[in-house]
Amino acid sequence: MGIINENVDKVDIRVKQKKKDLIDYFIREREGSNIKNREVFSLEYIPKEIYHREDYIFWLLEKMGNIDRFRNNLNIWGPVGCGKTLVVKYSISHLQDMWKDLNITAKIVYVNCNEYSTSSSVLYKIITSLGGEVAERGLRLGTYIAHLKEIIEDLTALVICLDEVDFLITRRRNKKKGYEEVLYSFGEINKINLICISNIPKWNQFLDDRIRSRLQLENKNFAAYSESETRDIILQRIELGLKDSKIFSDKHIDYIVKTILINKTDIRDAIRYLQIIVDYLDKNEVEVSKHILNKCYNILIEEELFSTINSLSIAHKILIWIISSLAIKKKKITSNLINTRWNELASNDKFEYKEYIKPIGVRQIQRHINTLTELYQLLSSNTASLGRYGKENVITPEFDAELVHDHYKLDDRINSSI
Ligand SMILES: Nc1ncnc2c1ncn2[C@@H]1O[C@H](COP(=O)(O)OP(=O)(O)O)[C@@H](O)[C@H]1O
Ligand SMILES: [Mg+2]
Repeated sequence: MGIINENVDKVDIRVKQKKKDLIDYFIREREGSNIKNREVFSLEYIPKEIYHREDYIFWLLEKMGNIDRFRNNLNIWGPVGCGKTLVVKYSISHLQDMWKDLNITAKIVYVNCNEYSTSSSVLYKIITSLGGEVAERGLRLGTYIAHLKEIIEDLTALVICLDEVDFLITRRRNKKKGYEEVLYSFGEINKINLICISNIPKWNQFLDDRIRSRLQLENKNFAAYSESETRDIILQRIELGLKDSKIFSDKHIDYIVKTILINKTDIRDAIRYLQIIVDYLDKNEVEVSKHILNKCYNILIEEELFSTINSLSIAHKILIWIISSLAIKKKKITSNLINTRWNELASNDKFEYKEYIKPIGVRQIQRHINTLTELYQLLSSNTASLGRYGKENVITPEFDAELVHDHYKLDDRINSSI
C-alpha cells in the first residue's frame, strides 16, 4: 500500500460520477417525479397542522401563557413517538406570540438532554441560546448559574424545555449528580419555569426529595397514537409530499399503518417506512403493490440493523461476525465456543487483525455479550440446564445471520478477510 490510503485516491473521478448521477436524479425529480416536497417525509418536519394533539397544545398554552403571574413546572411523559417533542416545539412560537400580545418579557429555550447531557453543557446551551457567552465546560456549576441569573435579570420569566431529561440523570459521567444542583437552582430561581419531557414516567423518582418538593412538577401523560390517528398522520404526509396522492389506495395505507403498529409501535418508524416507499417508487418508477410494500419493509429493518452494527466497536463487530458464522453453521453458541473462535483468529492468516488478537477469556466475552444483548438488543441468551454438569448460557442472534454475514463483506474495518 502507498502512503495514501487507496480509499482516498481517485476522489476526482468519484466526484465527477456522483455529479452525473445527481444531475440525472435531479432532472427526474424536477420533471417526472411524483414527489412535491421531499422534506415532508423527514422526521424533523413540523407540519402546520398537527392532528390529534390539540388538547395537549391548549394545555401547554394555558399553563405557560400567563407566565409572569403563575409559575409552572411541567412534566410531560409518554411513549416514544407520541408527539411530545413536536407539541412542545410547535407551541414555542405560539407562546412567544401570546407573551408579545400580553406585554410579557419572557423567553423560552429548548434543550435536548440527549445532545447536551452534562449539567454544564445544559447550562451552556441555555446561556448561549439567550445570547450570552460562556465556555462549554470547565467552569464550576455555580459560575454558570450566576451567569444565567445575570442574563435573565431584565426578563419577567424564562421557560426552559428539557427534552429527554432522563438522559441527564442516567448518563454515567453525571454520577456526581451535578444535575441535582442544576435542577435545584432552577427551582430556586423564581423566574424559571420548566417543561421536562421524557419517555420514562418516573424519571424524577431518582431525584432527591428536597429537589422534587422544590420543583413541584405537574404531570401530563401523553397517550400513544391509535390506529386511526396514525393513519391520519401518514395520510397528511402523503398529501403534503406527493403531487399525486392517489397512488396509494386505502388498502395500501391500511397495510402500512398496521404493519408498523403491529411490528414496531412507533410512528417514527411509520414515517421512515413511508419515506423508503416513496423513494423506492420514485427511483424505480414502479406502482405501489403489496410486494413493493414488503420489499420496503425489509429495507427498513435492514437499515436499522446495519446502522446499529456499523456503529459498534471493532471488538463487538468481530464478536457479531463470529456469532453470525456460528449461527449459519447451526452451532450451539456459548461464551466458551465464542472464546475458542476468538482465540483461533490469532492464528488465522486471512484475518487482517490477526497479530493484534489477544486471548480475552470467557468472562470478558460474557461482558461483551451482555452489552450486545442489553444495550444493543442484537442477541438474546437463554440458560440451558446440563443436568448434573450445571447450566450454560446459550446465545441466539436476534438478526438474520446470513444477511449480517454478507454485510461484513462491505465493511472496510473488519474487511472481507475474516
Ligand atoms: N400529530 C402529529 N402530526 C404529524 N406528525 C407527527 C405527529 N405526532 C408526531 N409526529 C411526527 O412523528 C415523529 C415523532 O414525534 P416526536 O414528537 O418526536 O415524538 P416523541 O418526542 O414523543 O418521541 C416526528 O417526526 C413528528 O414530526
Ligand atoms: Mg422526543
